[in-house]
Amino acid sequence: MNLSASAAETLRTALGDLLDGLPPKQASLAVDRLIASYRGATPTDAPILRDRADVAAYAAYRMPATFEAVRSALEAFADAAPGWTPQSQVDVGGGTGAATWAVSATWAGTRPVTVLDWAEPALALGREVAAAHPPLEDVRWQRARIDASLVLDTADLVTVSYVLNELAAPDRAALVDAAASAAQAVVIVEPGTPDGYARVIEARDRLIAAGFRVAAPCPHSAACPIVPGSDWCHFSARVSRSSLHRQVKGGSLPYEDEKFSYVAAARFPVSPAPARVVRRPQIRKGQVLLDLCEVEERLSRTTVTKKHGELYKAARDADWGDAWPPVS
Ligand SMILES: C[S@@+](CC[C@H](N)C(=O)[O-])C[C@H]1O[C@@H](n2cnc3c(N)ncnc32)[C@H](O)[C@@H]1O
Repeated sequence: MNLSASAAETLRTALGDLLDGLPPKQASLAVDRLIASYRGATPTDAPILRDRADVAAYAAYRMPATFEAVRSALEAFADAAPGWTPQSQVDVGGGTGAATWAVSATWAGTRPVTVLDWAEPALALGREVAAAHPPLEDVRWQRARIDASLVLDTADLVTVSYVLNELAAPDRAALVDAAASAAQAVVIVEPGTPDGYARVIEARDRLIAAGFRVAAPCPHSAACPIVPGSDWCHFSARVSRSSLHRQVKGGSLPYEDEKFSYVAAARFPVSPAPARVVRRPQIRKGQVLLDLCEVEERLSRTTVTKKHGELYKAARDADWGDAWPPVS
């Protein structure tokens, strides 16, 4: 089993074991309450994850999906920075630790990690789940509030996953600036909605202004070629659902697709993909239509036909979010 599949499997088992003890009725009620909180007006001035039932529901209902979204973003980042491995990580608004699991699924080895969050029950459950995973033995789970006074310890990598949407604009700016001051690389992931994309673009602009280069998903560090309001850049990660996940979330499909937007940027030189597939490829008879964002700072549609030989085979295998042409 590869690194990534093995971390995903360990996470699934650890969540399953942990939640076995939680009565299904209580889990469903906590999920309903969470959904209502997340639909409500954000930001809030107190943690949404208030107690163990909330956090257990979050872990079952959302953590497998946020883990897969961050893992996809990190994989694209690792492709653009092939010689680089983070020696330390700070995960801001890390909650139950999905992004720390995703880092361990992308780069082998252990590294000092600090998870910061204001919700103590999330940190406690994160610590418990991580105990099942030796690469996460060196994690500090630390209570901290994200606001204008936030200063982060230096780290190779700062991750910020599904957090900006819970913050007011000044705190979002303060968080991105603090990450830029502390890190060699910053990876920010948000829900794949028009608003999530807008927050990612806002963060991307701040990182570039602070001297970072974009490693992924964009092939360049110039302005995003999407006309504001006309579309939003987002990707999709497949999340396999355990029976417990199905029980908590309802539905019978063995998987779901998590939509996310992201930016991965670094202070050191990176090699972004020459182009990225920004929609699900359309496979027609003898041809594949690829929507690309290109290094020339534009969006384009390329048709790859059988006449293109090996490239056609690659196009048939290409997935939404992949580099194009594929990284060999
Ligand atoms: C949607 S969860 C994401 C958790 C985790 N990063 C993930 O990807 O699964 C948002 C997290 O941000 C934390 N958070 C929100 N606002 C915060 C603030 N002002 N200070 C510290 N943590 C905050 C919440 O407690 C929660 O754990």
